[in-house]
Amino acid sequence: MKHSALMRALVSSGALTLSLGGAAHAAPCRPANPCAPRPASSRMNNPCAAKNPCAAKNPCAAAMADRVDTGLVLRPKHYRPYRGDIAALTAYGEKLFRDTSLSSNGMSCHTCHQGNGAFQNTFAQPYPHQVQMAHDRSAVKTVHLDEMVQFCMVVPMAAKPLAWDSKELAALTAYTASLQKGFRASGNPCAAKPH
Ligand code: HEC
Repeated sequence: MKHSALMRALVSSGALTLSLGGAAHAAPCRPANPCAPRPASSRMNNPCAAKNPCAAKNPCAAAMADRVDTGLVLRPKHYRPYRGDIAALTAYGEKLFRDTSLSSNGMSCHTCHQGNGAFQNTFAQPYPHQVQMAHDRSAVKTVHLDEMVQFCMVVPMAAKPLAWDSKELAALTAYTASLQKGFRASGNPCAAKPH
């Protein structure tokens, strides 16, 4: 068989297209930001998509996404959180929750979490517990609530983590703890089943 005939045979048998197809598919699996809100049109079909823009619709997204350095999101050694009046911290946290200046992409925590949106059933469990995002992005088995705030600062908010001893971190942690009290896993039709 001549070289060109061999090529034709390979192409028609699918052997070549298969390997080319593999390369061509690699690119769409690497979104710049897997948490970026999808266009309104793609949300229409699935009412849960708008609630949780990070849901694992695309199995490539989690696998291909950049790994998050655990040094940014896990409590440091000799960790000393800011302590203050819980009611005052919760009230301040509620304000920060809607503050888009905390992120680098125009989002606030409220953008995704209003009406308990984007929270999965794991949110109903006491901390520390496993959270899919932390597991996928840093292979972390369990997280504390303040670590989860830091994960969301770094991943969906595309910002730097807050200082571990800051009033801001304590406030967002106090406010999300108050949201957790009112969260019922079964009340969220978009939540995944518990692991
Ligand atoms: C772009 C959307 C988005 C933004 C913005 C966002 N989050 Fe999240 N957050 C998520 C998603 C999605 C999850 C669920 C991760 C999972 O279960 O895998 C999550 C999980 C959490 C959890 C853990 C829930 C659990 O199961 O224990 C907390 C707490 C949280 N976010 C707080 C915040 C705070 C505080 C902010 C603002 C600093 C914020 N989030 C900003 C999408 C977002």
